[in-house]
Amino acid sequence: MITYNEETRIFHLKSVDTSYVLKVTEQGHLEHLYWGRAIQGVNLGKLHQHYVRPSFTPSTDLDHLEYSLDTLQQELPAYGDSDFRSPAYQFQLPNGSTVTNFLYESHEIVAGKPQLEGLPAVYAEEDAEAETLLITLRDELTNAAIVLSYSVFRDYAAITRSVQYRNEGTDVLTLNRALSMSVDMPGYDYEMLHLSGSWARERYVHRRKLEPGMQSIESRRGASSHAQNPFLALISEGATEQHGDVYGINLVYSGNFVAGVEVDPYLHARLFIGINPFDFSWKLEAGEVFQAPEVVLVHSYEGIGGMSRRYHDLYRNRLTRGQFRNKVRPILVNNWEATYFDFNEEKITSIAQAGKELGIELFVLDDGWFGKRNDDTTSLGDWFVDRNKLPNGLEALVDKVREQGMQFGLWFEPEMISPDSELYRQHPDWCLHVEGRRRTQARKQLILDLSREDVQQYIISTISDVLSSAPITYVKWDMNRNMTEIGSALLPADRQRETAHRYMLGLYHVMEKITTSFPHILFESCSGGGGRYDAGMLYYMPQTWTSDNSDAISRLKIQYGTSIVYPISSMGAHVSAVPNHQVNRMTSLLTRGYVALSGNFGYELDLSKFTEEEKELVRYQIELYKEIRHIVQFGDFYRLRSPFEGNDTAWMFVSKDKTEAFVVYVKVLQEPNAAIGRFRLQGLDPNKTYRVFDSPDAGVYSGDHLMYAGLTIPPFYGDFQSCAYRLKVEE
Ligand code: DGJ
Repeated sequence: MITYNEETRIFHLKSVDTSYVLKVTEQGHLEHLYWGRAIQGVNLGKLHQHYVRPSFTPSTDLDHLEYSLDTLQQELPAYGDSDFRSPAYQFQLPNGSTVTNFLYESHEIVAGKPQLEGLPAVYAEEDAEAETLLITLRDELTNAAIVLSYSVFRDYAAITRSVQYRNEGTDVLTLNRALSMSVDMPGYDYEMLHLSGSWARERYVHRRKLEPGMQSIESRRGASSHAQNPFLALISEGATEQHGDVYGINLVYSGNFVAGVEVDPYLHARLFIGINPFDFSWKLEAGEVFQAPEVVLVHSYEGIGGMSRRYHDLYRNRLTRGQFRNKVRPILVNNWEATYFDFNEEKITSIAQAGKELGIELFVLDDGWFGKRNDDTTSLGDWFVDRNKLPNGLEALVDKVREQGMQFGLWFEPEMISPDSELYRQHPDWCLHVEGRRRTQARKQLILDLSREDVQQYIISTISDVLSSAPITYVKWDMNRNMTEIGSALLPADRQRETAHRYMLGLYHVMEKITTSFPHILFESCSGGGGRYDAGMLYYMPQTWTSDNSDAISRLKIQYGTSIVYPISSMGAHVSAVPNHQVNRMTSLLTRGYVALSGNFGYELDLSKFTEEEKELVRYQIELYKEIRHIVQFGDFYRLRSPFEGNDTAWMFVSKDKTEAFVVYVKVLQEPNAAIGRFRLQGLDPNKTYRVFDSPDAGVYSGDHLMYAGLTIPPFYGDFQSCAYRLKVEE
């Protein structure tokens, strides 16, 4: 999978369908030669030619003026010694200078994929599945080293990269910038695709043509955030869902990040991603190592859809872990939108009972069960059951729900502390704060300082105590604000700017401990919906609550955008009440159902209030989901019509063996006298014959008919109408 040519000093990395080529130049720099569709590797040296540029371009080699760091396609560039573009890293020396000169020292190719200490990462289950190239660069003056790591996979079309910054000298060094990846692409004829939004409007798809200069996205919120996702793709001109070259980069990290593209004066595009250098520095004492998070690079020559399916396969199988990785996920009912904080044992058991009668498998008790939490002003940190609401305690409630034949899940927000809590009264210095400054609240809460070991230990032991106290099989792990006054009471002055990253390391440690101690529990992460929907979280918790916006029409864009990178099995999607609580929209139960059936399905309303007719439809939805969930959660996902481009949305799920599929079509607004449209399916076997169920177009068709001629869009009457189709191969 990885070859090295001693003579040309060229490395050729091959994952399924993908080649990535780099070279050690005569001068000792790492030059990037190619990333794209797999090539055989003959005459790789011709992949890049160097030309003399105007004299303003410095050269480090006076015998070869065509050799300039400012124009070289680099793998991990620095600033200060002649590349004027944006650097991947910056070391500061005790004399204040920031110029370094890291040159190739050695490399090794190892079987398998070493894990990243303390950080989430894609993994290989056996050594034969992957191969890893480790390249060491060294700066002679400081004796600092940089180790670049590249892994390729036998079964997945992805390449992972990460970097270790090592102080192997005797001086104290400071890292002002420590990105995880940089790559210089030839030319700039690309669009940049990214996922941006806000609370309740997460991960909308944005595309813009690259222009000379810098274009970037970032988070400074202490979480990957609702606003930007740590993902970016370059799309070749004219690329679509099905065709064209797409280059995706996704950081396996849940904190502050930057991702961007700089188009330089010679019109090359430098693509980079990593921890946000803004308000960051990291002190490296002699012998210390800084491990930058991993990046997952995916190239697709089959358009944006091809890139998504490559990410989905890898993340489903080699990022998420544990018992639930390949297990179908339960249908749940959550009481949040049904009761908010206003519940008691009776209300909860009646919702659970109604759910059980309809075929639901799991009841989830959301916020408000602990401390004195009757609203959002209090008690975070006090993880003790509120006996006023649940006089018989948690265990009795869990038993009752389980007696009804349902599993029990519980909500926590472990990273937070309410100023009005027992915990805060005991430990006022346990939150992130800066001495002498205001402690700014959001949702009336502060954030625990997870860079501290005592705080980590408190969370591990209190949450573990609750989880051990009753047969709980699901946890929703919420996080409802972003960081301000990012300082830690325990860190010295010259390490304060490490706090945000140390918080993430602490959080990952806590999550590792808790999730591995309770392997029978299905964990779902949440941050006011999708405020921390990233690959870092998916390593610990295989699913995420996609958005607090549960409106079916809003969800078209949110789920469509999320699917650009993240697998469907990671996406929570629930039917909620109308008028919708976030946008006040009325949509039919049918449409709400089809949109929610397109993820990890559940309900978030008081089922006991449904009419018999509504209950009949719910029963049908639940039965349908039980039949199709293996395809939805573990099949291949195809986006057919984009909510960002028109008045309708369609997507489909195809089983890996292409014998079954499920298609959802939603028309947003009614159009009088509209054309009778058709929409084409994807991903089927053109030579197989499929029976289409449950639709006006029910009947038997060949796969090629369904993909090339398509199905007729029914003449809907009214807004927000939808239909769905189940497909099965005819024996
Ligand atoms: C935000 C979550 O996204 C909601 O689903 C709910 O759990 C609330 N927090 C509870 O406070």
